[in-house]
Amino acid sequence: MTRIAVFPGSFDPMTNAHLDVARRASRLFDRLVVGVLNNPKKAPLFPIDERVTLIERCVADLGEHVSVDAFDGLTVDFARHHEAGFIVRGLRAVSDFEAELQMALTNRKLAPEVDTTFLMTALEYGYVSSSLTKEVARFGGDITPMVPAPVAEALARRMADEARV
Ligand code: PNS
Repeated sequence: MTRIAVFPGSFDPMTNAHLDVARRASRLFDRLVVGVLNNPKKAPLFPIDERVTLIERCVADLGEHVSVDAFDGLTVDFARHHEAGFIVRGLRAVSDFEAELQMALTNRKLAPEVDTTFLMTALEYGYVSSSLTKEVARFGGDITPMVPAPVAEALARRMADEARV
């Protein structure tokens, strides 16, 4: 039996907390598809193509069974499209749990055949979030402990571009 999971998120941008969860999930599942939500309403810092490319670089060493794909619409439809029986979500702290439980139960109502699995991110990344990383980068703080190297470079480039306009 092939165990397939999707790991959905906004990933604007991927952080070390996300990557840590992807690494743990890559050891559990035969195939893992990182799903990048294309939600133009959220006005992301990085366009969808760039987020996908950045994640591909971040997960390159996790193995050929890990891939990255953009999606819009429902996560459960994305899971079904990839014939995945599992959704992976990361938990950093108890404060994440309530919203995640609500999402997991909603997804279960929509697709009872798909189970959500939660993986705890490493303790050292428990404070890391995409939004705070962007804020720190915007004001010139050091974000290298928070994001993978390709993301740190992309953020530096983006902030330099913003400073020019
Ligand atoms: O990285 P995020 O922003 O915490 O990810 C949230 C995400 C993308 C997993 C969630 O917003 C989602 O699943 N969006 C797709 C739309 C959907 O399926 N909504 C119902 C889920 S409860």
